[in-house]
Amino acid sequence: MIFCFSGTGNSLHAAKRVQEKFGGELVDMAAALRGGTVSYGFKPGEMAVFVFPVYFDALPVPVTDFIQAFRISEGEPDIVGIATCGGSAGGTDRMFRKLMRRKGLRVRAFYDVKMPDNCIFWLKPPIREAALMTLKHSDDRLSDILESMQYNYRVPYRSSGAAGVGSALGSAVSGALLGTGSFSVDDTCVGCGLCARICPAGVIRMEENRPVWEKSRCWKCAGCINRCPQEAIQYGRGSRKKFRYCHPDLK
Ligand SMILES: Cc1cc2nc3c(=O)[nH]c(=O)nc-3n(C[C@H](O)[C@H](O)[C@H](O)COP(=O)(O)O)c2cc1C
Repeated sequence: MIFCFSGTGNSLHAAKRVQEKFGGELVDMAAALRGGTVSYGFKPGEMAVFVFPVYFDALPVPVTDFIQAFRISEGEPDIVGIATCGGSAGGTDRMFRKLMRRKGLRVRAFYDVKMPDNCIFWLKPPIREAALMTLKHSDDRLSDILESMQYNYRVPYRSSGAAGVGSALGSAVSGALLGTGSFSVDDTCVGCGLCARICPAGVIRMEENRPVWEKSRCWKCAGCINRCPQEAIQYGRGSRKKFRYCHPDLK
């Protein structure tokens, strides 16, 4: 079984590659959390693979919440983590192992895969050509990961203790950065409602054909702003001139 959280499609693409190779159901962690389904049975030999992006050197809030709620009703799956990141997975492996350890579960392997950076809030997502080049490398890396998973989890990712400290810090400060106050929509909005439909946190509602961020905090997945077909969603004053990125599979 593959558990996935994804804002702009990188992690979803990685999860689908795992599914193509090993089969198994693909579970959307955000939807499962909303629906309250967190108990899963596993067949003998089946893996539980968690695929998610790195936010602030740490695990996204919904992934932490899902793992904390996660229950195994049957079986003893090999637990595997795959973090997609724009630069480095930092100490996310340590956080992931710690969360699982608290549940009495041992992580069999953890992998990182560098993919295009979607963090439009404070960085610049890449132009299309650069993103495609990065994706070519990440697909090679994903092939290596799948091979490692098939052959007894060779060459997993292990961060240093210092990276673990960085991730703990990132996780601690990220709470302050989850506000929705800086989102706005400009006049190019055509009221298609895609942003409201795809928001995994269910934070956006359409009001008179315009998106409204109705909660003061979101998960900062960057899906709404990067995937808006009109590029009408802005974040503060800096986003207008930046490129939008989402994985080509989503288009
Ligand atoms: C709010 C936010 C914070 C991020 N923080 C990091 C980070 O600390 N390190 C990193 O390498 N990438 C970071 N990224 C980039 C994403 O991890 C990366 O682009 C990921 O592949 C996106 O996955 P997705 O398309 O499945 O949402 C961040 C992205 C966002 C939106």
